[in-house]
Amino acid sequence: MQPTPIGIDALAFAGPAHFLEMTDLAAARGVDPGKYLHGLGQKQMAIATPCEDTVTMAAEAGRRALEAFDIDPAQIGTLIVGTETGVDHSKPVAVYVHELLGLARNCRTFETKHACYGAMAGLTSSADWIAAGRARGRKALVIASDIARYGLNTPGEPTQGAGAVAMVVADRPRLLEIDRARCGDYTRQVMDFWRPLYSKYAFADGHYSIQCYLDALEGAWHDAADGDPEALASDRLAACLYHVPFVKMARKAHQKLLEIEHGDAAATDQTEARARLDASFAGKVAPWLELNATVGNIYTGSLFLALIDLLRHGRADLEGRELSLFSYGSGCGATFCLGRVAEGASRHAAALDPQPQLDVRRRLDIAAYERIMDLSEDVDTVPELDPASYGLDGGGLYYVGTREHVRRYARA
Ligand code: COA
Repeated sequence: MQPTPIGIDALAFAGPAHFLEMTDLAAARGVDPGKYLHGLGQKQMAIATPCEDTVTMAAEAGRRALEAFDIDPAQIGTLIVGTETGVDHSKPVAVYVHELLGLARNCRTFETKHACYGAMAGLTSSADWIAAGRARGRKALVIASDIARYGLNTPGEPTQGAGAVAMVVADRPRLLEIDRARCGDYTRQVMDFWRPLYSKYAFADGHYSIQCYLDALEGAWHDAADGDPEALASDRLAACLYHVPFVKMARKAHQKLLEIEHGDAAATDQTEARARLDASFAGKVAPWLELNATVGNIYTGSLFLALIDLLRHGRADLEGRELSLFSYGSGCGATFCLGRVAEGASRHAAALDPQPQLDVRRRLDIAAYERIMDLSEDVDTVPELDPASYGLDGGGLYYVGTREHVRRYARA
């Protein structure tokens, strides 16, 4: 008898109300725009104002996932927020979200941290929680929420962004079944990206982090293959989804995947390897990178933003087809796994498409962007913040300052 499928039953994105054009950043930094647009593959990046934080974006994404997929909050028995930009060294973002969404008292609630990997850890452990019979018919809500901020005039500046992706994990999921037998893991202690307790900004050895990512892909892929590479053969997959700190990284990852499958280009015919990469990338990776290109890096959520992009196309021909998911968190930890698009998933394309939200975002000029970056330095100790002063007047939930060491949230 086949085991009951478990996977992603609902998906939603929430992000900041403002964005920066990469061409504006390139002009301000005296960089050829081609580097950002083509070298990194980014068009725009979402910028969080001081009133938008990891909690507000997580709560908004969670609310949208529950409402759009008609899920009663009382059905949620586990809430996990994966983040590397939490708001407290002790108190989890998840417990704020638990209250804001009105979840049940008997819901277990916690935060996971492993750089960009935290949400994949939440997804796979939620699936295991259901498979183990602990859920008793309930579902898990897993939210990835982050603000990727490297600072002004740093190499990482063009790879910033902000946003949250919420996913409900359940049995008989409406969107994506996770193949738990084809999940492979990789861990290695490396210093490619880290943020010490005393620093607002991450330290990144950018080029080394790319190499660590590719090494982790190879390690996790071999673990998932478990001696049977044919089981993962990308030729028969409908799509290959990757962690996307910047869009070009997905191409580097796919090139690595094909090298693992077919051998290093240096050892094979390079023209043939290039043609194979171009065709495979165009069919299985590139079509689902538009949201990543316009939102930017959202750390824990970026793999799942690519999944939203795939599902929003409403492609009935993808139903029943397998795809791969690769999550990488610096430091480092990674998982490579297979999933299967659920029958009927295409009917939910409009419910999970964030395009209407993105279409009403407001463009920042460089001066406003730099002012926001400066103000964000001290935001955790400011007693009073006014969302309206940042043009946030749409009735959303905002961070409005910290008094007596307590963060306060309110609807505008
Ligand atoms: N037109 C087109 N492409 C251009 C270009 C131009 N005018 N100028 C440069 N490029 C290309 C480069 O050839 C390079 O492409 P390649 O990687 O395919 O060789 C790409 O743009 C980036 O240029 P590079 O000189 O490597 O950029 P950088 O030294 O400023 O660093 C990162 C890029 C990603 C390392 C940096 O932004 C960073 O540290 N980001 C944060 C860490 C991160 O995202 N890590 C990812 C793994 S988790």
